[in-house]
Amino acid sequence: MNIPFLDLKAQFREIEHEVLPMVKEAMENAAFIGGPQVSGFEAEFASFCESKYCVGVNSGTDALRFALLAAGVGPGDAVITVPHTFIATTEAISQVGAKPVFVDIDPKTYNMDPKKLEDYLSKRFKGNASGLQPSASSIEPRPKAVLPVHIYGQPADMDAIAAVAKKHNLLVIEDACQAHGALYKGKKAGSMGVAGCFSFYPGKNLGAYGEGGAVVTQSEDMANKIRMIRDHGQAKKYFHDMEGYNGRLDAIQAGVLRIKLRRLETWNEARRRNAKHYNELLSPVKGVTVPLEANGSRHVYHLYVILVDDRDGLQKYLNDKGIGTGLHYPVPLHLQKAYSHNGHKEGEFPVTESVAKRLLSLPMFPELTKAQIEYVAQSIKEFMKKS
Ligand SMILES: Cc1ncc(COP(=O)(O)O)c(C=O)c1O
Repeated sequence: MNIPFLDLKAQFREIEHEVLPMVKEAMENAAFIGGPQVSGFEAEFASFCESKYCVGVNSGTDALRFALLAAGVGPGDAVITVPHTFIATTEAISQVGAKPVFVDIDPKTYNMDPKKLEDYLSKRFKGNASGLQPSASSIEPRPKAVLPVHIYGQPADMDAIAAVAKKHNLLVIEDACQAHGALYKGKKAGSMGVAGCFSFYPGKNLGAYGEGGAVVTQSEDMANKIRMIRDHGQAKKYFHDMEGYNGRLDAIQAGVLRIKLRRLETWNEARRRNAKHYNELLSPVKGVTVPLEANGSRHVYHLYVILVDDRDGLQKYLNDKGIGTGLHYPVPLHLQKAYSHNGHKEGEFPVTESVAKRLLSLPMFPELTKAQIEYVAQSIKEFMKKS
């Protein structure tokens, strides 16, 4: 049996009859940038995310960059995030001129550990109502924001993070690029911070047929700023209040996203069913750790990630049997060459490092069949018995 890691072709067959006429109409009307598809999608996605505003942008990376800029983060600031994420999270921080600073993750959810966040802040900075003052020994820039990542589709512990952020006077910006429709204590991912940033990269739970992203926010001021930043710093054509970016969401991509958004809840439910089936088959297998859905959270399983000691051996075994797998992410960000100038050392973030060595992403998409899940689970059992 051949089981791809991700199958976007099956999904296209379901929506082809809506997508192709939409693309034809856009071409016939020469409506490519802005217009009713973009504003329509923004209204619908804001409502889906239980947020007052949504601004469509060109990618998740732009969403993060623009949210940070609109929040006033820049040179001289630090932004605290996790080393267990895709590099776009920290690229956005560096590219607005700030410094990414890491705290380790929780060993069960793989999300930011709020205790580590508090430890970091209380050791290096004295929190007070007027902001953070570096302690005498500190050479770190002043943290302005915390950027938790809802990794794999499960929200970080937002209440605990918000409490630490409040104590230390930090903004919270959510990297919800993997968590469309996830819930934290009944609240939508992206709706809890000053801004929530989404990616519509094709493989995401809500994916465009190209690049796309969005910022959702409850703040009109934030939304207005991001609208200007994404469009060369103009609110009125050729009247530029500042320099901005070419970071808009295309009309055709917005049209695709509107068609898919209507099905997102059904697709997320299918992912959850698939995860449940995997869990039933794999949790009894000795040596395999299945993902944990934290109390009060609704995981939307953008990725279904297990931990095993001989990860490389298992990956090869599965690949040889025609099963596609992924590694998200094999090298923690603090150990990437791109951040070698920061002088990080192995052992600095032990939970992230241990997870990175053992993680393996199994095939996960809504159309995955029971038989396919059973074949994957059976193959894992065979490997674990042999090793
Ligand atoms: C956690 C995380 N942050 C940011 C991004 C960046 O999104 P994009 O690829 O749309 O720029 C991604 C997507 O790959 C992601 O998974």
